[in-house]
Amino acid sequence: MLKVKVAPSILAGDFSRMGEIVKTLQACGADYIHCDVMDGNFVPSITFGAQMIEAIRPHTQLPLDCHLMVNHPETHIEAFARAGADIITVHAETCDCLKTFDRIRACGVRASAVINPKTPVETAFPLAECADMILLMSVHPGWGGQKFIPETLQKIEALRNYCIKIGRDNLDIEVDGGITEENVGMVLTAGANVIVAGSAIFRAKDMAATIARMRQV
Ligand code: DX5
Ligand code: ZN
Repeated sequence: MLKVKVAPSILAGDFSRMGEIVKTLQACGADYIHCDVMDGNFVPSITFGAQMIEAIRPHTQLPLDCHLMVNHPETHIEAFARAGADIITVHAETCDCLKTFDRIRACGVRASAVINPKTPVETAFPLAECADMILLMSVHPGWGGQKFIPETLQKIEALRNYCIKIGRDNLDIEVDGGITEENVGMVLTAGANVIVAGSAIFRAKDMAATIARMRQV
């Protein structure tokens, strides 16, 4: 059984207190800090860039899981690596992922790829052969607080089955968008093991309990 990891998205947090927030998330048992980087081009909104990664880096020992929703991500790899990223995830819709993986790994960072809800799961298959993680979007990227797209469950299953077929049973499959305590069970049963959650964690009365329950479902 793969270890289930919970990656709270700081997008749902208070941007004026990010240092404190990542410290709290670590104390509450988070496994990764999920950092949603948006460029106002690949997606309509702009969030933050490598400077935010650098700013939060001293406040947590947890891996910083950087989800780059940007065009031309390959031009930003070194900056994110220098800032302290541990995992860099690039969209298959924006670049040649295999080439970009080489660039990410040359910086000593784990390389991951992500596909949008409308991108067929087969696009992720050749990437699963060598990625450190594959992320499947369960909402259209751009905003937190959207509703989980149920068709993602079939994509998770198909990707996990493919991983088993090629002997990469242990590949981390991350799912991002609209995950709550109510639907996380289905996401894990389908074969994912890394759960991103923004609103569900930040609106919880007890973040530690919510994170623990999400992991134990
Ligand atoms: C969407 C982002 C997600 C999002 C998750 O573009 O990539 O990480 O912030 O937030 P919730 O859990 O609120 O859907
Ligand atoms: Zn994300």
